Amino acid sequence: MSRAVAWWRYPAFALGILGSEKSFRKNPLLGHPRLNELGLHRERVRLAARMADYRRSLLGMSVRAEERAAFDRDGFVVRENALPQDVFQRIRDYLENEPLPAREMRQGQAVTRMTPINPNALEKLPDLARFSRDPSIAGLIRYVGGVAGDPIYFVQTVIAEPAIKQADPQTALHADTFHSTSKAWLFLQDVGPDDGPFVFVPGSHKLTEKRLEWEYRQSLLANVDKRTHHADGSFRITPAELLELGDFTPQKVVVRANTLVVADTYAFHSRAVSDRHTVRVELHAYHRANPFTPLPFSLTGLVPGIRDRRLDLYLAFADRKAKRAGRQPVWKDVGACTAFSEPHI
Ligand SMILES: [Fe+2]
Repeated sequence: MSRAVAWWRYPAFALGILGSEKSFRKNPLLGHPRLNELGLHRERVRLAARMADYRRSLLGMSVRAEERAAFDRDGFVVRENALPQDVFQRIRDYLENEPLPAREMRQGQAVTRMTPINPNALEKLPDLARFSRDPSIAGLIRYVGGVAGDPIYFVQTVIAEPAIKQADPQTALHADTFHSTSKAWLFLQDVGPDDGPFVFVPGSHKLTEKRLEWEYRQSLLANVDKRTHHADGSFRITPAELLELGDFTPQKVVVRANTLVVADTYAFHSRAVSDRHTVRVELHAYHRANPFTPLPFSLTGLVPGIRDRRLDLYLAFADRKAKRAGRQPVWKDVGACTAFSEPHI
């Protein structure tokens, strides 16, 4: 039987409805079957999409016309030869050879390593700023996510270990949350069809009536769904359900090294299962904010000196929270290692 939730937590739960909170399991208001029957989730989805469209109309001015068109059609944008070749080569050489402080998280047979692009990393390898401070890359990430402000940047390593017979939850098709949000990957190696590439469903970023109806149906039962990520508001979709929503075909995003991919992860996507051991390294950006804000800028962007430290601040906060709760943090500190090294957890 589930434990009763303390009454004093409800004001915070109510505030969560006005922000990006998404878990039907952790927020009893978001997960409330009666409220969702009345359309709480559906209306959040609808309003968030409208606000993202509005913000995009402002953000689109700094984005190349052909990239805007690709996004509007597919929900993701591919930019080849994203960095000058010499810059790209220096970044790759450095990350292959020099250890930097990193964190790791295991999900079944996949390990994700995060190496923050913080002031320390930028000082050691100033070329990283060609990714994390490039206005054209940031502008594209903002447009795709339909949200202003600065993304969070880090080096991401994804290690697939098929010898470990445990499913990776990211290999199921899903939407990250109930609103547009963007992620970017600048791949440091070629990614072939058998390297566990990113899988994306082109066109599934659009909020159609069928999608809205599907969202509504999920919201009625999501709070008790056995799939934890689904219950946490990152809805999983089966191939049969996907076909009901339209003429959709998941596509493997196969790329050459030095290709930038920016995707709206409200669209359905996954990681392809990798049958062989792979270590993939990407310069990564993550961009998510309050989906309902009308502001074409972010409030945290106004705090001086915080821009490149936000990930470190978040990790320190998460560490303290885990310690107080007597559990291990999700992102385990593994000390300094090279981005291309094997997992430490
Ligand atoms: Fe995802």
